[in-house]
Amino acid sequence: MIDNSWTEDAWTDLVTKVTKTSQIMGSKFPTMTDDSGRYAFTQDTWRWVTGFWPGLLWLLYEDTKNPLFSNIALNCETQLDQALHDYVNLHHDVGFMWQLTSVKRYEMTKDMDARRRGLVAASHLASRFNIVGSFISAWNKNDVNDSDPRGLSIIDSLMNLPLLYWASEETGDPRFRHVAIAHTETVLEHFIRPDYSVNHMVEFDPFTGEKIRVRSGQGQSTTSAWARGTSWAVHGLALAYKYTKNPRHLEAAQKVADFFIRELPDDNVPHWDFRVPREATTPRDTSAGMCAACGMLVLGSMLDDGSGEKYIAAANAMTKATYEHYGNWNNDSDGIIRGGTFNHPAGLGIDVSLIYGDYYYVEALHRLRHLKSTR
Ligand code: GLY
Repeated sequence: MIDNSWTEDAWTDLVTKVTKTSQIMGSKFPTMTDDSGRYAFTQDTWRWVTGFWPGLLWLLYEDTKNPLFSNIALNCETQLDQALHDYVNLHHDVGFMWQLTSVKRYEMTKDMDARRRGLVAASHLASRFNIVGSFISAWNKNDVNDSDPRGLSIIDSLMNLPLLYWASEETGDPRFRHVAIAHTETVLEHFIRPDYSVNHMVEFDPFTGEKIRVRSGQGQSTTSAWARGTSWAVHGLALAYKYTKNPRHLEAAQKVADFFIRELPDDNVPHWDFRVPREATTPRDTSAGMCAACGMLVLGSMLDDGSGEKYIAAANAMTKATYEHYGNWNNDSDGIIRGGTFNHPAGLGIDVSLIYGDYYYVEALHRLRHLKSTR
């Protein structure tokens, strides 16, 4: 059994921090911090990041029952209706957006508006399935500058699939689940490499379904190992196994998690890409570490033969290191944790707080604190 006693102090620091920052950030949608530690906000409610701040607040509300957190989270969720109704800019990340907000709230309150929002978002995600290629299309025409993205699918997609499993459970209709499983099979075939590193993007012909090529995005190259992409796979495959109980999904989740653990430096905070030279100044990506930690906690808690211990131990070590060395507890930055990398090849958002890094830190801490009662 790991020692997670440190999480009590960490939780107190977190609640103190967010009680303060929630009064600054209110019901806006933070993205990443600027040089002075202030969060920038987006007014485009359709962007993929808009569910993380309300999602983070629901996790805090679950344990504190402080209405400060729930009121803001609900106000954010209501604003997301604009994106849901406009439809035009919606993309595959509707999972990130409505799973962490409406579905989470529905699970806690059984509110029927929350259920309806979750089901509409799931319907949109299912409709993005390209039958001939058996993949969920990530984006829309005009979203990506240099090409037509109708045939593009990305590893992040795995994180959106729980919305589909939930919709099938909720409605009793297996259609959503069929789409999630079919897409997961495509990910296993085309995204997971023989050494269990992962491709970021794969381009298919949207009319014939044929695979055209592997593309890189936020990683160094098509053969490098982008840390956050790897973390999407660790977490996403663990969630796939949670819903399918397919042993191939478990094996893939374990192998990708093993790869991630092997690539961690001694201080347990991943570099932004596992295949760039590691200098003292090479940027880290705490968001990748925290997303992977959550996946390892999901994975480890499903294995009752002792093989899950190493994943839980790795998650505990990564989260503790992030708490101790990357937490903004004693300064007035808006971000909870620093050391995130948004897009290194584009030179954007390096050593910043990212709202999804903050979210997954809170989720990891929340899971670690509840380890005893959930295992
Ligand atoms: N989902 C986009 C990213 O990981 O930056």
